[in-house]
Amino acid sequence: MPEFPLRRLRRLRRTEPLRAMMRENRVELDELIAPMFVAPGRGVKREVSSMPGVFNLSVDRAVDEARALAELGVRAAILFGIPETKDEEGSGAWADDGIIQQAARAIKQAVPDLVLIADCCLCEYTSHGHCGPVAGGEIANDPALALLQRTAISQAAAGCDVIAPSGMMDGMVHAIRSALDAENFQQVPILSYAVKYASAFYGPFREAAASAPSFGDRRSHQLDPANYREALLEAETDVAEGADALMVKPGMPCLDLVRALRDRFDLPLAVYQVSGEYAMIHAAARNGWLELERCALESLMGFKRAGADMIISYFTRFFAEQQQRQS
Ligand code: PBG
Repeated sequence: MPEFPLRRLRRLRRTEPLRAMMRENRVELDELIAPMFVAPGRGVKREVSSMPGVFNLSVDRAVDEARALAELGVRAAILFGIPETKDEEGSGAWADDGIIQQAARAIKQAVPDLVLIADCCLCEYTSHGHCGPVAGGEIANDPALALLQRTAISQAAAGCDVIAPSGMMDGMVHAIRSALDAENFQQVPILSYAVKYASAFYGPFREAAASAPSFGDRRSHQLDPANYREALLEAETDVAEGADALMVKPGMPCLDLVRALRDRFDLPLAVYQVSGEYAMIHAAARNGWLELERCALESLMGFKRAGADMIISYFTRFFAEQQQRQS
């Protein structure tokens, strides 16, 4: 490598056309996934107070939103449900007329090409807010698997294109894969939340999805944010269990894992820029402390540079609108 003064790295940064030509990564709409929160009722569009531009939508409004997203060029949405009622087991997760099932059917009918990803977990549906049945003060792993199987099957039957288990139960990918296969859903892929930390950055989501645990926390099943090797083991087990694609969550605090999984596994890799990441950029922008648009873009670019193929982000719609304005 020649050194200064022979090497001058600034030569290629002088003008925007040069920079554009040399640019190593681009964020493209094709790879962004928009989260949607579906709630009971009709005509409901309620903004989540800590997440400007993110709404609880009734099924009819969710269809409108799905249509608008597709018209903007968005390819995919991930669905979260806020059920009318909750119970000990979380039966709303697999009910035929459950909120996700209703939403998926209606959206598929109106916007068949929008890829629908179903978050497959029980915490939004259980009265205690935990991701599985509670026994003796603990979240039972194996009984949760049978419930997740039922949930995945009913989501696939309602037309969801991808099942995304997020509960961090051991064996969940294998359980869901075998259940889907047994019910003739061999073609439905599993996008596993393989590396999901017990993160404080999920705070605003729990308001949006009304899924805060009524006691305790999620540290007995989600990863300790201090651990790196354990995250690799989680990913490895999900690959072995038949995951079609992997996810790292949250995003910005975990870019090391995005890079590590990209280098280690050849499966498609998603990253979830979670509610708290979105909320803090918005909060700072509202205060005049950060520039919303540039920070949003830079955060998405960071995921690309780290090696992500897909990004679940609450900025998806904003990004799509931005692109439309520029074109
Ligand atoms: C669980 C789930 C959570 C999120 C996605 N799926 C919440 C949790 O684990 O407590 C968080 C997403 C976000 O913060 O944006 N169903």
